[in-house]
Parts: sequence; structure tokens; C-alpha cells
Amino acid sequence: MQVSRVCVLGGTGFVGRSLIYRLAADGIRCRIITRHVQRNRDLALIPGTELRSAGPLDADSLAAQFADCSAVINLVGILNERGKTETFRRAHVELVELIVKACRSADVKRLVHMSALNADQSQGGSDYLRSKGEGENHAHTLGQASIHVTSFRPSVIFGRHDSFFNRFAGLLSLAPMVFPLACPESRFAPVYVGDVAEAIARSLDNADCYGRRYDLCGPRTFTLRELVLYTRDQLGLRSRIVGLGDGLSRLQARVLGLLPGKPFSFDNYLSLQQDSVCAENALPDLGIRPTDIESVVPGYLGQHSERARLQRLRKAY
Ligand SMILES: NC(=O)c1ccc[n+]([C@@H]2O[C@H](COP(=O)([O-])OP(=O)(O)OC[C@H]3O[C@@H](n4cnc5c(N)ncnc54)[C@H](OP(=O)(O)O)[C@@H]3O)[C@@H](O)[C@H]2O)c1
Repeated sequence: MQVSRVCVLGGTGFVGRSLIYRLAADGIRCRIITRHVQRNRDLALIPGTELRSAGPLDADSLAAQFADCSAVINLVGILNERGKTETFRRAHVELVELIVKACRSADVKRLVHMSALNADQSQGGSDYLRSKGEGENHAHTLGQASIHVTSFRPSVIFGRHDSFFNRFAGLLSLAPMVFPLACPESRFAPVYVGDVAEAIARSLDNADCYGRRYDLCGPRTFTLRELVLYTRDQLGLRSRIVGLGDGLSRLQARVLGLLPGKPFSFDNYLSLQQDSVCAENALPDLGIRPTDIESVVPGYLGQHSERARLQRLRKAY
């Protein structure tokens, strides 16, 4: 199947932006459905890319958006629930049901769905992982026979605008002396956003990928403590990283979960009880050599350290 125009949901986010540039380089036209057209209008400057307002998210309006697209890519996901409308069920499960229904009405035969490593409808350790697992299963089963589905299940993703290294960089700058770290021994295999975008791009019109669920990981496994120490060193800080035991990790999650923006929630704590590492990394199978954090992260954490240096200088004079 030759894909020439795709409709992307969640295309304005961290992964979405990387993917849109990658697809545009292949001459694929992207229609991005967003709730915030104005905020993301820079994306419309990419050749062949158009932004459409999400409007009411129901199967009929989605089908209208999908018209004349040969594939749909769903990247929508949230890490924390917000109020009664931004729920895991809405974003990860109900939206997938609507997307599959809309694909059928609009006669779209290809769907790429973004899930997460450890997503599991019945065994997932957190509401996030269970709802991602349910959505992934829906994508594969509801569209069966008429839609070719591929899903991707990455570990934590890094890249210039990630919410992992950048978040720890921000938090470390606020706690230059002692940094209390919950779940310090949780393990991750961070995967580069450019590799994730490449995997999606390669899968789009590759019939071997139909019906497959791919775990995506970087080349190395780290504990959370190692990743935070790495971030600290990149920033040139000297904070002492104090790993919290289970009781204090739970308490920290309960407390920080009450703060605006939930820097760390109890559901996040539950997700961290399972290592985010691949039994089988699909990147090499897709012909992609996984990128190491060393070759990318210093390039953007350097900006944080420069900012911190200027702040220190300002305080000193
Ligand atoms: N980043 C990671 O480390 C990581 C790891 C594993 C899996 N994933 C998965 O990868 C996907 C992309 O992640 P990301 O980091 O790029 O996320 P992101 O930066 O937060 O972007 C997600 C996008 O989804 C859209 N969205 C959010 N809630 C929505 C809702 N209720 N209804 C409709 N649209 C909604 C938003 O678009 P608008 O605001 O423009 O509408 C947003 O731009 C997600 O499915 C995530 O679960 C990410």
C-alpha cells in the first residue's frame, strides 16, 4: 500500500512533531488534528502539512477528517488525568474506539497506534498502563479484517523537548543541595524520539508490519538513579541524590500528586514498579540502530546548564 497522505492525532506533541518532519521528508502529506490550532500553527509551515481543529471528537467528525487519507496515526496519550474530561479512559480507550469506527466509515485501511512498553489491559500495574493496554487491544481487534494495524510500545522516549531529562533537569535546578528520588532502582532503556519516528515511518507501507506490536528500546538499560545522576552531571550540579525507600516513594507520590501539573503522581509511582525494558527490541528488526543517550542528551541539557550558570552569575553580582 502506497501511503501519500496521513491523518495524525496527537501530531502536535513531542513524538508527533518529530514524526511530522520525518514523514514530510518522504513527501508524505500530513493532516494534523489538534485541539489547539493557533498554538501549533508553526507546524503548518512544513511542506504538505495542514492543521485541522479537532472539534467534537465523535466518529462522524473524525471520519470527515480522515477522508482522502490512506493511513491514520494515533499518538494521543496522557500521563496524568485532569478533571472529569481528561481521563485515561477517554484519551486511551474511547478515542481508539472512535478512531477505528471512523477508519471504517472513511475506508481507511491502515492504522498506526502508539501504545507504551508494559501496557497491559489486565496485568498493567497502573491505570495508565492498563488503559494503554486496553486501547492497544481495541486498535488491533476492533478493526480486524478491514484495517491493518501496527502498534508501537516504547520505553521512556528522549529528545530535545522530552519530558524526562528536561523534567529532571528542571527539578534538579530547584534542589541544588539534596534531591530526594522516588523509585531509584526502577530500570529504563530510553529510546530516541528520532528512532521512534523512523520506526513509524518505515512501518507505514510495509505489509510485514501489519498486525504487529513492536516494543522499542534504546541500546542500554539504566536505573532511574543512574539517569538522574547523569542529568545532574550534565548540568554541572553537585546535588546529593537520595534514593527513597518504598514507603517514602509512595508518600512523595501522594504529596506531589496534589500539586498543580502533578510532577509525580501515585499512578506514576505504580507504573515505576515494573522495569521499562524490552525483552525483544524491534528497532534492529526494522533496520534501525538504536541511538545512545550520550550522542543526543548533552546537546539539549547543555542549555539548562548554561541557564543555571547565568543564574548563578546573576546572583553573585
Ligand atoms: N514520551 C514518552 O516518553 C512516551 C513513552 C511511551 C509511550 N508514549 C506514548 O507516545 C504518545 C505520544 O507521546 P508524547 O510524549 O508525544 O505526548 P505529548 O507530547 O503529550 O503529546 C500528546 C498529544 O496528544 C494530544 N492529546 C492529549 N490529550 C488528548 C485528548 N484527550 N484528546 C485528544 N488529543 C489529545 C495533544 O494534542 P493537542 O493538544 O494538539 O490536541 C498532544 O499534542 C502517547 O500515546 C504516549 O502515551 C510516550
